[in-house]
Amino acid sequence: MSDTTNARKTEAIDALLRDPATDRGRRAFDAFRLRHRALPELDLAAIDPSTRFLGRRLAFPLIIASMTGGDHERLRRVNRNLAQAAEQAGVAMGVGSQRVLFTDPASRDSFALRPLAPSVPLLANLGAVQLNCGFGIEECRAAVSVLEADGLYLHLNPLQEAVQPEGNTNFAGLAARIGAVAGALDRPVLVKEVGAGLGLADARLLMARGVRHFDVAGSGGTSWSRVEHHRQPDRGGHDLGLTFQDWGTPTPEALRELAALGPEATLIASGGIRNGLDMAKAMAMGASLCSLARPFLEPAMESPEAVLAVLARLRREFVTALFLLGLPHAADLVGRTDLLAPAPAWLPEVGDEENRAMRL
Ligand SMILES: Cc1cc2nc3c(=O)[nH]c(=O)nc-3n(C[C@H](O)[C@H](O)[C@H](O)COP(=O)(O)O)c2cc1C
Repeated sequence: MSDTTNARKTEAIDALLRDPATDRGRRAFDAFRLRHRALPELDLAAIDPSTRFLGRRLAFPLIIASMTGGDHERLRRVNRNLAQAAEQAGVAMGVGSQRVLFTDPASRDSFALRPLAPSVPLLANLGAVQLNCGFGIEECRAAVSVLEADGLYLHLNPLQEAVQPEGNTNFAGLAARIGAVAGALDRPVLVKEVGAGLGLADARLLMARGVRHFDVAGSGGTSWSRVEHHRQPDRGGHDLGLTFQDWGTPTPEALRELAALGPEATLIASGGIRNGLDMAKAMAMGASLCSLARPFLEPAMESPEAVLAVLARLRREFVTALFLLGLPHAADLVGRTDLLAPAPAWLPEVGDEENRAMRL
């Protein structure tokens, strides 16, 4: 995100691993079910979940979300494990904020991932607020170049910056600066939040300035506000990070809003997506692709095989959902709000594990 040092990046990972409640587990997708077909009229084996993204083929519509990079063995390992797994499974991958490239050139290695992932889309990443702090098109080009990226994610994280004592909080005039980058860069600029959600007003400002890809990164999953709370001195549990830990637009609501942008916009769903069934629901709500961060963090620290195991699970869940909906291709699902229904009211409140399993 806006971290300048490797220490801050590893500190954030430590906080995420130490405190499971940094993943808010709001399960917003459990409020919906998809309409079952008892007669799908399809052979499960013939279902093709592949799709195209930024001119390349994906085995199924998934992006490993932007997470990390920096001059630290742990950060290099995470990115290499993710890149190898992404290539093998045929999915896209984002890297974490590359701001560190400009303060610590030794971090370059952690972003030089193209040799490990020659055929899948790779996405560079910078904080949009940096465009108000001296960064411009040259830094954006450098971030794309080191990764040989297919696109550049500019992330919006006003909540995270606001709850940090040292955050960059000047977000004035950013839409125009993002538009200037989108107009000058020879790759698409994709705009994402980091867990508080992009809404229609935000997306319209950006559409008017040439942005066409929006990753909603809604609330319900990883809470950066809560992560930042761990970096503050203890104030008896009453700090800004905790107060705002659940702030934001839940991912399904953000998707519903952005569906109004129409077919010119490509929507990416992220924020609290935890299985292939959530993916299917998000796509019925209008997303062309889905993205997850937190579920890949621990496996990425371990090995490419551990990441591949998560990817295989997600793919199987997603293909099973397509089968039970009677849809032969992933693209058939995008925007099919008619396939969504409210989850049965007789199921008890979402929250405890047993009921969650029942609902799924
Ligand atoms: C360890 C970690 C590091 C992250 N770093 C970045 C980052 O540098 N840039 C960014 O745009 N998003 C970053 N994110 C946010 C994710 O890309 C994603 O938008 C958010 O975590 C919501 O997805 P989730 O609920 O599946 O985790 C990070 C998330 C995690 C878990």
